[in-house]
Amino acid sequence: MAAAGSAVGLGNIWGFPTQVADNGGASFILIYLICCLIVGLPVMIAEFAIGRNTRRNPVGAFKKLSSGWFPPLIGLWGVMCGVMILCFYLVIAGWTLGFIFEEIFYYMGMSTASNWVADLGNGFKNSIFTVLFMLATMGIITGGVSNGIERATKTLMPVLILVLIIMIGYVFTFDGSVEGLRMYLLPDFSMINTNLVFSALGQAFFSLSLGMGALLTYGSYLKKNQNIVESAVYVTIADVCIAILAGLLIIPAMFVAQYSGITIMDDDGRLFASTTLVFDVLPNLFKSMGGFFGLLFGASFFILLSMAALTSTISLLEVPVSYFIDEHRLSRRRSTLIVGGVVMAAAIVVSYNINFIDILATIFNNVGLPLGGLMLCVFLAWYWKSENAIEEIKHGFENLEDGYFPAVWKIFIKYICPFLIALVLITTLYNLIA
Ligand code: PFF
Repeated sequence: MAAAGSAVGLGNIWGFPTQVADNGGASFILIYLICCLIVGLPVMIAEFAIGRNTRRNPVGAFKKLSSGWFPPLIGLWGVMCGVMILCFYLVIAGWTLGFIFEEIFYYMGMSTASNWVADLGNGFKNSIFTVLFMLATMGIITGGVSNGIERATKTLMPVLILVLIIMIGYVFTFDGSVEGLRMYLLPDFSMINTNLVFSALGQAFFSLSLGMGALLTYGSYLKKNQNIVESAVYVTIADVCIAILAGLLIIPAMFVAQYSGITIMDDDGRLFASTTLVFDVLPNLFKSMGGFFGLLFGASFFILLSMAALTSTISLLEVPVSYFIDEHRLSRRRSTLIVGGVVMAAAIVVSYNINFIDILATIFNNVGLPLGGLMLCVFLAWYWKSENAIEEIKHGFENLEDGYFPAVWKIFIKYICPFLIALVLITTLYNLIA
């Protein structure tokens, strides 16, 4: 449940719909699903196995399983990605927190206050909510990764799904929504290009919390009798389903906005997919509900989204914090204060310059995480050896060796996943230079 809490977050409700809009709809979804299934799922199983076997933070885990300079480097890379992703993630999480107040102020007729909170370009306001969000994250991390996360995820996830479904039903009562649905469900294969595959792979890693050791760290808390493969399948299914639902709400909502006269496409017929897209479209939808229902759905949606973001920021911060605790002998409190302080300062800079969000997301979600995943596959197959990983996975998975799983997973982790990730990264780099 904690891993599902890490996976389900802004990546599903902000990242996925923005990417779908940016990459032409259904064709992106198709490639995204393929990436989750053939790269994400095998890598998630690998992270859980390494974590549970070593019971360490990412750097310590790789060091424990093999010697040399390469293994600790994979962990350090993850620590850096965690820190850099947090710098922009916190700003968006701050927006979701702010919109809870925006909905309340709007309902109470305090239009100046509600417009102030809704202004995503206001650096001072952004920094306040960013800091509040970080303080909440640090507060929970200082107390250790608590059982509360699991309990919160268990209750909040079904409610989030329910609210999404009700909102989807509501959006389809408007003209224009069916056009959005068409774009969302009918793939235009001519849209598939290197850039789309690059974005889909990055989005899969980001959304599933892979490539930086977050799920490896959570794997280190797994019990020996828990089935790693089953857990990974559940986390992947929950994460993908919530992303698909979020897109089903936001893409048709964009077309509804177009119907009411708002421009949503550029001259080439591509959707405007900015970082702020979700926060432009959704509050308008809640406002159209009007009165108390608008407040009820608007405020509950942003509360749920803030909670989902919180269970993700906790896992992002836990990676660098546990690294400093284990490898540099800091107390949990000290480690949280130092890492949290540095990240908070950097996030404040981003909150004043929101165009950094796109740049950081492209570098660290689309390149950083898949590269981390690639190194993890190489490590598992050639350093630790997949036979040892299979031995670990056997715990909690009776009859593992009776089926095809060990052979198939080995081929994926040793050849298919690293080859595909390397191919996507190298082709994108080549296109960029050429
Ligand atoms: N998976 C989270 C989301 O979809 O919002 C973001 C994330 C959390 C990425 C933890 C990476 C990570 F290690």
